[in-house]
Amino acid sequence: MASGSPATKPAVPGGDPDRWWHGGVFYQVYPRSFADADGDGVGDIPGIVSKLDHLARLGIDGVWLSPVTCSPNRDWGYDVSDYRHVDPSLGTLADLDTLVREAADRGIRILLDLVPNHTSDLHPWFVDARRGRGSAHRDYYVWADPKPDGGPPNNWMSIFGGSAWELDEASGQYYLHNFEAAQPDLNWWNGDVRREFDEIVRYWWDRGIAGFRIDVCHMMIKDAELRDNPPATEDDPLEEQVMGVRSVYNATRPEVHDILRRWRAIARTYEPERLLIGETNVPTVERMAEYYGDGRDELHGGFNFVFIEAPFEADALRTVVERTEALLPDGAWPVWTGSNHDFSRLATRWAGGDPAKAKVALLMLLTLRGTPFLYQGDEIGLVDGQIEREDVLDAVGARFWPYYKGRDPERTPMPWHGGPGGGFTAAGVRTWLPMADPAACNVADQEGDPDSVLELCRRVIAARRASEDLAVGPYRSLASPDGTWAWARGEGTTVLLNMSGGAATFASGPGIVTVCTDAAREGVSADSTLTLPGWSGAVVAP
Ligand code: NOJ
Repeated sequence: MASGSPATKPAVPGGDPDRWWHGGVFYQVYPRSFADADGDGVGDIPGIVSKLDHLARLGIDGVWLSPVTCSPNRDWGYDVSDYRHVDPSLGTLADLDTLVREAADRGIRILLDLVPNHTSDLHPWFVDARRGRGSAHRDYYVWADPKPDGGPPNNWMSIFGGSAWELDEASGQYYLHNFEAAQPDLNWWNGDVRREFDEIVRYWWDRGIAGFRIDVCHMMIKDAELRDNPPATEDDPLEEQVMGVRSVYNATRPEVHDILRRWRAIARTYEPERLLIGETNVPTVERMAEYYGDGRDELHGGFNFVFIEAPFEADALRTVVERTEALLPDGAWPVWTGSNHDFSRLATRWAGGDPAKAKVALLMLLTLRGTPFLYQGDEIGLVDGQIEREDVLDAVGARFWPYYKGRDPERTPMPWHGGPGGGFTAAGVRTWLPMADPAACNVADQEGDPDSVLELCRRVIAARRASEDLAVGPYRSLASPDGTWAWARGEGTTVLLNMSGGAATFASGPGIVTVCTDAAREGVSADSTLTLPGWSGAVVAP
């Protein structure tokens, strides 16, 4: 069994060892696309182990692994058929223990993805539930009788399209699925479901796993009366407008907080406390902040989708950050991310493929107060892959093509060098999703080039580790010209981002440029002002 305690990495300055991740940097690995050790075209856990030195050199403190548990892969790991074993296509439990141990040797902790809202329809609980109304696990899932006309019990819609209800002809009842029909929703009103998950989280935490990213944690429990959702209005998020209903009764129910408090109490029995980072995909910062509870009793961190979905504009992002800073309860710690396996990569979505803009985005993520989560490839400014209709593997992409091409573009394999196979797999191997030409953007070509996105990320992360201000200091917005954003961290550090096409002059206060998107300016003194060219950024410290 792996120990999970990082050994010799220097502590984050000002950091409390129980809050080792405050001031730290996380990195999301999408295992199927990170590194393929066995040459079958699918990334795997031994592949991740082989790339740990890259993560250590980048300065990463924690890795979130998208699901590695057994799955029929109808939703690529997010349909779990066994919560306690590793999917054979990704490796073995022993491989995962090795990863935890080898990562710990490099000062990196591992978070797994916990998928508690639903299982696979091939999970033994659901297989049993389907045996009939009297089966032992029937009530583990949400079942309801048809309407008198035989239609679904209510108007809830699946996020992946169509009704959220599937008729089980054998029993004459419908079961609920907020995603694919192959992902039946669990019934969190059932005490046995809660106890099962208590055991699952303990099982992994006992094994040295440092915490979980919790899939759709705002959705786990549904209205006990299964009331109809109200119609969506044009003020609702696009996703709800497309579904035609606002998610009031199938998500964000108040009782979800009981479940989070229950897990936090278990997390607290571990040393160090295990982490709960939630996928809080809710439309406002106010609602996201609720998942932190009183700041100590629910999530340690909630992904901020209002931030992820904001346009890459100074005013828009500053407004989200200020609201987040104002609304989080005392003691709570923000989480910032710009890409993940469900969203177009930041180098495409925010930066439009321009490395200068990608550098500004990364400087922003890595210098706000809070813990950034980089997505694999962000650190080299990797853009989305090109996916043709015949390549589509994401069920949502297949369903909505060509209006929505799905999530495959952000899931294409990681390019480690420019040669055949890109260092992801052996030359000539067909990868599970097509790999973009690795010569266009890869890790090896950026190594040692001070102007590269990779070297900028390394310098900013090193600067966080060397500065209590940047690691844990409070955030305060500063006045700055239109199209720019400036803020103070802690005692005397300022971050200046020029998010416009023309030069801008900031009131910087005297100091030294400690990090700059233009490496040549690092170490230069700033007097009372600093002028930055369009799409660039700098950190100034006394
Ligand atoms: C959110 C995950 O990030 C996404 O990939 C998945 O399809 C849904 N939850 C359903 O589990």
